[in-house]
Amino acid sequence: MGKRDKKQRHQQKNSHRGASYYTSQHDDDYEDESYTFQQPSQDSEEEQLEESDEEEKEENDPNPSMEMPSKFLLYQQSVQSPKGDISYLQKFFLMYVGGRLPLHLQEDFCGTALLSTEWLRTDSRRTAVGLDLDLEALQWCLENNINKVGVDGYSRISLLHGNVLKPSEAKLVSFKPQELIQNIQLKESDDNSKIAATEPKMSEGSASLSNQESIKADSILPARDIVCAFNYSCCCLHKRAELVMYFKHVLEALSKKGGIFVMDLYGGTSSEQSLRLQRKFPNFTYTWEQAEFDIIERKTRISLHYHLHKQQKKLRHAFSYSWRLWSLPEIKDCLEEAGFRSVHFWLRKMPDASEMRSTEGFGIGRDVKYEEVKSFQQEDAWNAYIVAVNK
Ligand SMILES: C[S@@+](CC[C@H](N)C(=O)[O-])C[C@H]1O[C@@H](n2cnc3c(N)ncnc32)[C@H](O)[C@@H]1O
Repeated sequence: MGKRDKKQRHQQKNSHRGASYYTSQHDDDYEDESYTFQQPSQDSEEEQLEESDEEEKEENDPNPSMEMPSKFLLYQQSVQSPKGDISYLQKFFLMYVGGRLPLHLQEDFCGTALLSTEWLRTDSRRTAVGLDLDLEALQWCLENNINKVGVDGYSRISLLHGNVLKPSEAKLVSFKPQELIQNIQLKESDDNSKIAATEPKMSEGSASLSNQESIKADSILPARDIVCAFNYSCCCLHKRAELVMYFKHVLEALSKKGGIFVMDLYGGTSSEQSLRLQRKFPNFTYTWEQAEFDIIERKTRISLHYHLHKQQKKLRHAFSYSWRLWSLPEIKDCLEEAGFRSVHFWLRKMPDASEMRSTEGFGIGRDVKYEEVKSFQQEDAWNAYIVAVNK
C-alpha cells in the first residue's frame, strides 16, 4: 500500500467513533459484567482505532487448547448498547404517547435479544417479545442472557423464531435447551395480542426430535407499548413493499391505547463508500468492513470480524449482512403509508475525520445527544432514531 493510500485509509478509519456507526452508537457505557466478555480498554481513542495490516495474515491455530468465546458474546460486547437505547425508548414513549409507563416491548430482528434482556432486568413488571430468523442466536439468548434476569425472566419473555414479514408464522422457542419450538399464531384481541400455541413442532434439523415436551400453550402476550428494530436491521429488507408490509405488522402489534415504533439508521457521505474500521478491546480487536456501495441499488455488504488476542485466532465474517441503505424520507413515506399517525427524526452528527484529528479523538462524539430535527445538513457520518407514533 502506498503512503497516500495509507493516509486516506487512516483518515477513513478515524472518521467514526468506535466501529463507525456500529459500536455503542447510542452512548451507553454499558458496564454490567453479567453480559460482557471484557470491558473496552481505557486506551486513548487513537490507540483503540489502531489498524494492523498483519490481521490480513492467516494464522495456524497456535493455541488450539484455548477456548474461543462465542461470536454472540463478542458481538454484544463490541456492538450493542442496550441501556442507551432503552433510555431513549422511554423518553420517546413519554413524549409522544404518555399517560402510562411503557411496560411491554417487542424487539424485532432481536438476534440475542440483549435489549429485551436489559428491559426485563430493570423492572419486574416488564415483558418482552423478541423475533428473529436466527434460531441459534435466540437459543444462545435463552441460555446466556435470560438466565441473568432472575427467576421470573423466562416467564416474561417470548422469543419467536421467524420472519418479521410473516410474524403469524413465527414459532415460539422453548425455554428448554432441547431446541423444541412450537407453532404459534399471533391474533389480535381487543387490546391484547393473543399468542396461541397450536401443535408442537420441532425446528428443522433438530437433533432432539424424539424429545418432545409440551410448552405451556395459550400464553397471552400483552399488546406492545413499544416495538423496536435496532442496529440498522430494517436495511435487511431490500424492497419498498417489504418495508411497508413490515411496518403494517408492527402497527398491528402495537397497543390500541397508543404505542411507538423506533428504528435506527446511519448515513452520511462516508456510508456510501468502502470502509474498514477497527476497535481494540483488551482481549480482541473488532473490525467493521463496509464493501463498495452500489448507487443503483443503494446496497452494501457489511462484515464483522474478530481477532482474539490470547488465542491468536481470527473469526472472520462472524456476521455478514447485505443492506440496502434507505434514506430518511423513504422510511417516513413507508411508515405513513403503513398507517402511522406521525413520524419524528432524532439525529446526531458523528465525528468526522478533521474533528477526530484536532481534538481528543474517539471521545468527541460521546456527549453529543440526539435531537429532534426537521432539517439536517449532510455530514460525513450521522446516526438517527426514527420514531413512528400510533396515537
Ligand atoms: C444487524 S443484526 C441486529 C441484531 C440486533 N437487533 C442488534 O441490535 O444488534 C440483524 C438481525 O436481523 C435478523 N434478520 C434479518 N432479516 C430478518 C427477517 N426478515 N426477519 C427476522 N429477522 C431477520 C438477523 O438474523 C440478525 O439477527
